Amino acid sequence: MKTCIYPGTFDPITNGHIDVVKRGLQVFDKVVLAVADNYEKKSSFSTEERVSMAKEALKNFKGKVEVVSFNGLLVNFMKKNNYSIILRGLRAMSDFESELQLALANKKLSPNIDTFFVMTDVKYFYLSSSLVKEFASLNADINDFVPKNIEKALKKHFCR
Ligand code: COA
Repeated sequence: MKTCIYPGTFDPITNGHIDVVKRGLQVFDKVVLAVADNYEKKSSFSTEERVSMAKEALKNFKGKVEVVSFNGLLVNFMKKNNYSIILRGLRAMSDFESELQLALANKKLSPNIDTFFVMTDVKYFYLSSSLVKEFASLNADINDFVPKNIEKALKKHFCR
């Protein structure tokens, strides 16, 4: 069984991330979506919330997608769980530089680990979790960018 790990903050998961999962499943039998905990980036949702939102958003991929959280170094988590492939999505050219740095740094830390990239659908080329949150906070329609459960969670979050 070919498994890959798709790490990220997923604060929250968007249709762009789900598109990467779908593309990953064309090559891998299983995608483990790994939500980064205790990561420097300040998140709007707790790790538990991000995991549970991602689980709900990916529930149609029964058995093919698992959602977990990890803290500390990604490569350590991977080694501990016997994963060797990282899946990442590439959007605009600007992603390339940071993705190259991340992939090379991970490979330096753990030479057996490789990163596979898939191109994001053109519909989601400009999408990011921050953009979706900004839209939601300003009451813009985010229906095209996130699944229903995330739309609801964002509305609730910004009504607090
Ligand atoms: N569709 C939509 N949005 C996308 C996207 C896609 N295909 N690809 C990326 N994004 C967005 C994300 O939503 C995120 O938006 P935001 O900044 O508004 O929240 C942004 O692009 C950056 O996402 P990403 O590149 O996935 O980074 P991340 O910050 O979510 O996650 C980790 C980075 C967690 C994977 C990485 O830092 C890591 O592995 N950290 C663990 C610690 C570690 O091992 N460090 C050493 C690494 S060498």
